[in-house]
Amino acid sequence: MNKKTARILATGAYLPDKVLTNKDLENMVDTSDDWITTRTGIKERRIAAEDQSTSDMGVIAAERAIKKSGLDKTNIDAIIVATITPDMFFPSTACFIQRKLGLTHIPCFDISAACTGYIFSLVTAAQFLKTGAFKNILVVAAEKMSAITDWEDRATCVLFGDGAGAAVVSEEKGSMEIGQFFLGSDGRCTDILNIPAGGSFCPASEETVKKRLHFTKMTGQDVFKHAVRYMTESAENVLKKSGLKIEDIDCLLPHQANIRIITAVAKRLGIPEEKVYLNVHECGNMSAASSSVGLDGILSQQKDVKRILMVAFGAGLTYGALLLQKLGEKNG
Ligand SMILES: CC(C)(COP(=O)(O)OP(=O)(O)OC[C@H]1O[C@@H](n2cnc3c(N)ncnc32)[C@H](O)[C@@H]1OP(=O)(O)O)[C@@H](O)C(=O)NCCC(=O)NCCS
Repeated sequence: MNKKTARILATGAYLPDKVLTNKDLENMVDTSDDWITTRTGIKERRIAAEDQSTSDMGVIAAERAIKKSGLDKTNIDAIIVATITPDMFFPSTACFIQRKLGLTHIPCFDISAACTGYIFSLVTAAQFLKTGAFKNILVVAAEKMSAITDWEDRATCVLFGDGAGAAVVSEEKGSMEIGQFFLGSDGRCTDILNIPAGGSFCPASEETVKKRLHFTKMTGQDVFKHAVRYMTESAENVLKKSGLKIEDIDCLLPHQANIRIITAVAKRLGIPEEKVYLNVHECGNMSAASSSVGLDGILSQQKDVKRILMVAFGAGLTYGALLLQKLGEKNG
């Protein structure tokens, strides 16, 4: 019997129309284009319309991926959505996307792993495909970060953007195989990046809203330090498991939080900058959607890419890496 595989059959992406530049931010908070550019590499980011939810963006990316896959949408057996900006606490954003796609009776659920969410979700989907439980799974990573951003806090509001990406992953169709992976979390770091209020720990009240505790809070330098170490270790772990050297990787797709983190990780891994995919300058940090939009960018621009190494970190902390490899490529 043939060993079952998990493959990327098609991808899609969506970015909202509204562009918010560093110059625009200069008129909103005490910051400068120069500060944002040198500290983060970000020049502009996309912002969703007020009445546009995470599932609205996710469903557009999903429809684009499904169209490219050539599959009829009724062939999708499950929907997994990576997001930390769900439409509502419940039901899951996956259920909203299911409804908007007009699908019924398939399992739909969200994965909360912050910026590592797309890697966690692709790996989860791959397990269902490899065991034969499902044949085709829609994986979406979508975020409306603007909804959880404090637009009065210059330390965080310059960093984030909105967007969505999707992939149809399939047991038997598609040329790019989901390969070795590494996933990790460090719950000791829950306090360095979070939204303090609005959950069961500190339910929303007039007081929490007044204190702006329903927005993202971050200790930037701590996150930075951990990000570089965990991303490097995750990528190295996958290379080791795969029997590959960094020279065997055609494209590194790192989470797009900050150009300085990306450069530090690339340097430690020893991969030249021309092999490192970037969209941080034009999209900012879209949390889980950064990797999904990035993967769609790579696969639509670099037709001959054979091996992509995805690596990410995010709140939790969570971290992980995933190798995508053209079918038939030998390791090493
Ligand atoms: C957020 C980050 C860019 C800040 O850069 P930094 O070099 O650490 O800057 P600091 O926080 O030390 O702040 C330095 C100074 O700039 C100021 N500053 C902060 N944000 C500013 C802004 N947008 N514009 C101008 N000045 C700003 C600070 O107030 C501080 O001023 P002070 O020295 O007078 O106190 C950086 O820490 C970072 O990228 N961290 C990782 C964040 C991340 O990736 N988060 C997402 C995880 S998925």
